[in-house]
Amino acid sequence: MNKFLVCMIVSMITHAAAQQPINVIPQPVRIKQSAGSFTLTRETTIGFNKPECRAAAEMLAKRLNRPTGFALKPQERTTSPVQININDVPDPLLATEGYTLAVTPTNVVISANRFAGLYYGIQTLLQLLPKEIEGAKIAATAWTIPSVTITDYPRFAWRGIMLDVSRHFFTKDEVKRYIDQISKYKFNTFHWHLADDQGWRLEIKSRPRLTSVGAWRVKRYGRFGENAPPKPGEAATDGGFYTQDDVREIVQFAQERNVTIVPELDIPGHSMAAVAAYPELSCTKDTTVRVDPGMHIADWDAPDGLKMLFDNTLNPSDEKVYAFLGDVFSEVAALFPGKYIHVGGDECYKGYWAHDPGCSALMKKLNIGNIEGLQGYFMNRVEQILKTNGKKLIGWDEILEGGISPEATVMSWRGVKGGITAAKMGHDVVMSPTTFAYLDYNQGETTVDPPIYSKLRIKKCYSFEPVPEGVESKYILGGQGNLWTEHLPTIRSIEYMTYPRAWALSEVFWSPMAKKNWEAFVPRMEAHFGRADAGAVNCSHAVYDAIVTSAMKHDTVRVFLDAEIPGVNIYYTIDETMPDNLSPQYTEPFDLPDGPITLRVVTYRNGTPIGHLITLKREDLAARAGR
Ligand code: ACM
Repeated sequence: MNKFLVCMIVSMITHAAAQQPINVIPQPVRIKQSAGSFTLTRETTIGFNKPECRAAAEMLAKRLNRPTGFALKPQERTTSPVQININDVPDPLLATEGYTLAVTPTNVVISANRFAGLYYGIQTLLQLLPKEIEGAKIAATAWTIPSVTITDYPRFAWRGIMLDVSRHFFTKDEVKRYIDQISKYKFNTFHWHLADDQGWRLEIKSRPRLTSVGAWRVKRYGRFGENAPPKPGEAATDGGFYTQDDVREIVQFAQERNVTIVPELDIPGHSMAAVAAYPELSCTKDTTVRVDPGMHIADWDAPDGLKMLFDNTLNPSDEKVYAFLGDVFSEVAALFPGKYIHVGGDECYKGYWAHDPGCSALMKKLNIGNIEGLQGYFMNRVEQILKTNGKKLIGWDEILEGGISPEATVMSWRGVKGGITAAKMGHDVVMSPTTFAYLDYNQGETTVDPPIYSKLRIKKCYSFEPVPEGVESKYILGGQGNLWTEHLPTIRSIEYMTYPRAWALSEVFWSPMAKKNWEAFVPRMEAHFGRADAGAVNCSHAVYDAIVTSAMKHDTVRVFLDAEIPGVNIYYTIDETMPDNLSPQYTEPFDLPDGPITLRVVTYRNGTPIGHLITLKREDLAARAGR
């Protein structure tokens, strides 16, 4: 081989190594790639410089050992090829959750001030390894890590995901799996929606009926919200709950992943399961109320606003309710070490209060002028109970309506409006608006994905800016994605709805604003599709489907087709044939000819089909246009 050829090959290899793609989500603050890579082998040793790093180093070894088949065993020392170090002198830039990661062909060093930073440095390091690192089986691959220097820390302190375990129950192991997955994307808050109309999921020793009755409903298979009510005498067999031992185990599991759990018991509305267990807690004391199996329980758009067809509210005028809440929250406070307890406060129907003599008397006695003021009174009593137990109150933005102390934290969900108002009043705020962060909303084409009451595509999630204009950023603790589970009965379905949108939100909550770029995010998201597959994590590929919208111009249906990501070509037919990439390519809006037309749409990338076939009749398109 001549010298020139050798040089060329060496240069090609070096170049190829330098180009090993880096696909970290969320995008780090500073990242600089250099030539070459580090290769992990069964001889590699992992060192940690202080006893406080042992847990992080052992977690890394555990994650590496399973798919590599190695038996790496970390040791306390300072000169190993892979080093996990707590800084002797804390680096102020890294604060509590930041880290640096330096990879050269001979060394990997993760440094941080605290465990949290080491944990996140490890997540980044794992994302630099081939996707097989996510697998459960031993894989034969070269375990290379591109040479890189990273300095990274979060934009926001609150980076949350909420999971509703009331509408559907998920087992202890499923919850742990879910927490583990979100922590890989540097979420640090797991908001656990533990009680609602459809089930009370937390063992409370002083009130055993909350779980012996409130955790169980009659089994139904239909569409949630349309299910038949319980029949007289029908056994309630569907549900489940977490024992206090389960909770302690989950809390510890979360702590090991730098995740704080914020437990939520939704009161005073959304309390049908508690009322089914203890009817004396409601105004009507209706003993026929049962845990909701997904029936039609409310008219959400009644002329005067929300109308609940069953009494699902706690009675704010009854001292026994506060004694109940005192007992419940003292147990909750003892179980969860975080400083917040979420008390709901949303969508509380006040019609039963309005007809209750006790509520009227209390309003008169305290000179409360309107019924919202009664919820304000209730929430202030609850806040006192939490304070007695050393906890801070957080609630949905409705808690502002009745008046709440400035120390309460507000979770803005009805858009960002509540959050703006709250921040201007000096409340701490977590932004989790329906408009950008509701992970239960349909994320793709509604004739492909099961329809849900609203839509939210990932590109919109990605465009979320948690600090609205005119608001002081110090009041915005961060943001959160919310996953309600009315229509999600399985772990596979909750993963499908969570990803990839939670990846987009992780970048919104972690990465500097200047680093956000949709087009640059897309290839990283696609690389993570492969990682999710390797880890058997379900995720939606709706980004590959065409976006079909329509408008009416007089009686003519005009069709608009769009792609959510760059590089996707759209083809369609209106002649009752299956479309492919030799069918008409969409370039601009077109009108459907008259007649019983069916539109069929497909997407291709680089000549390969990608995404789903979408089939819509003229009347579907007219309905989509509002006809
Ligand atoms: C909510 O979505 N009802 C907070």
